[in-house]
Parts: sequence; structure tokens; C-alpha cells
Amino acid sequence: MDSIVVTGGAPLSGQIQIAGAKNAALALMPATLLSEEPLTLTNAPRLSDIATMTQLLQSLGAEVTALQDGKVQVMSSHGAINTTAEYDIVRKMRASNLVLGPLLAREGHAVVSLPGGCAIGARPMDIHTDGLEKMGAEIDLRDGYLHAKAAGGRLKGAVIDFPFASVGATENIMMAATLAKGTTVINNAAREPEIVDLADCLRSMGAQIDGDGTSTITVQGVDRLGAATHQVVTDRIELGTYMLAPVFTGGEVECLGGRIDLVASFVEKLREAGIDVTETANGLKVSRNGNRPKAVNVTTEPFPGFPTDLQAQMMAMLCLAEGTSVLEEKIFENRFMHAPELMRMGAQIDVQGGTATVTGVEKLKGAPVMATDLRASVSLILAGLAAEGETVVNRVYHLDRGYEQLVRKLSGVGAQVERVSN
Ligand code: EPZ
Repeated sequence: MDSIVVTGGAPLSGQIQIAGAKNAALALMPATLLSEEPLTLTNAPRLSDIATMTQLLQSLGAEVTALQDGKVQVMSSHGAINTTAEYDIVRKMRASNLVLGPLLAREGHAVVSLPGGCAIGARPMDIHTDGLEKMGAEIDLRDGYLHAKAAGGRLKGAVIDFPFASVGATENIMMAATLAKGTTVINNAAREPEIVDLADCLRSMGAQIDGDGTSTITVQGVDRLGAATHQVVTDRIELGTYMLAPVFTGGEVECLGGRIDLVASFVEKLREAGIDVTETANGLKVSRNGNRPKAVNVTTEPFPGFPTDLQAQMMAMLCLAEGTSVLEEKIFENRFMHAPELMRMGAQIDVQGGTATVTGVEKLKGAPVMATDLRASVSLILAGLAAEGETVVNRVYHLDRGYEQLVRKLSGVGAQVERVSN
């Protein structure tokens, strides 16, 4: 199992190219199941999660070719496709559940393993299944699998009120609705940029979708979808992660491809902490003013609120801020596992349920730490950039899920980071 060794203290300067969004690509790839025509995605990130989705789609009968320059050609097979998503693939990655809506819409039936919980929470699928049932799906849970079929062989449009703006449920229902008979309205839909990116791709395949990016999405079902080529939107979570790097070390980093609209609430918090964020012709440039950021309070919310996927990285930064910060995690029930690891480095954090109170310290000290989930892992790397001495982050397979070429990107701006095999 590999580790990443970070030696702190080197100021950063230079440019980091931000990749295509993992969480957009993981919804765009299953969209190929909606059409017999090929779907080509450009700017897809090269990540282990993309490889897992490729494996899943191939197990369903889709032809998937990953081309070298981050281009993924995903083409659904012309014949009937296998409509069973096996547990041993689905358990590795929750986003596998995004094949449920497309399979039901295309074939009228599907058997999809429940993904099971993960480190950050139970992550049920009730909002997905309640919505599909409103569209005429009959869904039974048997031996850990959702057995679903569309009454009469085809889903029908419905008005669906989400109790919570679930990203995955919005994606599953929106994809299912593209081929349903009639009109579907999703109220309290998620508004994330990845939803808009998926809607753009589906429209280029011939779908009729309005309101994506707002809380009300309307889909007029059509009989078939066609071919498309779509560029995956920039990864706003990778962007936010690398924007923070110079705040830990001093210096200045320009994140190429960064767009303010993707990270507006995050940038607002950085500026409140006294950090310089500048829009350039090629992206977003960040530098730390003076020695320490100021403490700020953060509450995670659905987009356009502060993203839960940047909470761990922000907490790591606030460990070094001047003053006391309060972070509230409102999206997941167990997303503070990075806190005890940061405390091993000298951070002062008090966790009470979904609230973490961080008292900033002048210095962190390098230490061996354990990665527990994707975003917690990268928060430890960031802390290591500032810590005195050496930080060894273990179980870095978590990082490979969401950060393409992390060591190369950080070394490229002067960080002392290397990957070692144990
Ligand atoms: C997506 O997960 C992202 N993953 C997550 O990113 C991200 O943290 C999350 O959205 C929130 O922004 C992908 O896009 C592949 P949700 P998703 O459905 O769709 C509860 C990362 O690090 N819920 O919006 O699973 C759920 O338990 C990952 O890249 C239900 O109760 O998120 C959670 O508490 C981590 N019932 C909350 O809603 C449901 O049917 C948010 O879940 C569905 C969700």
C-alpha cells in the first residue's frame, strides 16, 4: 500500500492545471446507457473511480474505450444490455447507483446492488427509489439488490418533490425522465454544476430539459436519444483543493481552468479569511496575505452553499488560522474523520456531533497519519505542506479516486512531496 511523504515549509509558486470533474464524469458515463449511439466525453479525468465506472458499464454490455488524452469514448451496445449491476463493483463506488435510472429508462428493468454505506455515512437511496416509483417503477429490495421494473415497460412522467436536494437522486431521475412518457418535474432538485453539465450533455443527445441549475427541473420525455460529444466541466473540488495549497505555504499559485462561478461560496470564505483570490485570463490565482489567515465560520450546504467536499480541506487551513472557527457539516453524518488525524499534527479541534470548533495554532508538526476518505486524505496532504518536518499519509488509494497526478501537480509548484511504496 503506497504512502505519500510531505516535507513541509516550501513556499509554492507556479501553475496547476485543473482536470475535468470526477463527479460530473461519473454521471455522464452512465448516460451512454440511454442511447444506442456513441457518447464521447473529452476532458475526462484519469482516476480510479473512472476505471471502476468503465468496468461497471462494460459488465452491462457497453463498449468503453479510454483514450490517452483524457478522452473516454463510451458506446452502449446495440443489442439488449445486461441490466444487473453486481455488488462487487457497486460496493467500491456509490456513484455506480447512477446506472439505475438509465437502465430502467432504456430497458424497463434493472437489478442494482445497494452500494452500502461508506466512511462518511449510511448514504441511503430512498430519494432515488421514491422518485422512480412515482414514475411507475416497481422496486423491491432483495438480498441487497434493488429489483426494479417499469410498470407497462416504460416509465411515465411525474411531479416529484425531493425532501432533500440530493445530487445523485437528481441525476438518476433526470436521466430516467429523458425517455419517460410525458413530462417530469423535479422540485427541490440539486443545483450543482455537475447537474448542469449532465443536462447539457443530455440535451446534446436530444433530451428536452429545462431549469437545470435551479431548484425546479422539467424534462419532456422523448422516444430516443442520439450520439453526442461532450467536454466534462472543470472539477470545482480539485480547484478548491489546490487554491488552498499556497495558503498553507505562502507564495502564489494559479489554477488553470478555474472559474469563480464554480466556487463562489468557497472564494467568499477565503476572502473573509483575508486571502487574495484573483481572476486571471487563464483561471484563478491565490496568494496568502502575510503569515496567517483569519478564522472564519463554515456551514456546508447544497450548491450554491459551501461544498461539503471542501470541508476537510478548509478545516485543515483553519487549524493554522488566527482565532477560533466553527465548522458545521450539514450534509453527511460522519465527515470529520480527518480531525483526529490533524490533531496528531498538533491541531486543536473539538468535535461535537456535526460541529467542529477549531482553535488556530501557529504551527503544525509532521506525523504519520491515516487517510480515511477521499477528501480527508487530501486535507492531510495540505496540512503536511505547512507542518514542520515530515508527514506520511498512508492508504493513499483514497486519493487516487479523485486526484489525478497529485504528486506531480504539487511538486510542479515547488512542494516537497513524493509517493513511496511500502
Ligand atoms: C454526491 O454524492 C457526490 N458524489 C459527493 O462527492 C458529494 O459529497 C455529495 O454529492 C454532496 O454534494 C458524486 O457526485 C459521485 P447526495 P451523493 O445524494 O449524490 C442523503 C466526493 O468526495 N441522501 O446529495 O451520494 C445522503 O445520505 C463525494 O467526491 C439520502 O438520505 O450525495 C447524504 O447525507 C463524496 N437519501 C445527503 O443526502 C438519498 O436517497 C447528500 O447526498 C440520497 C441521499
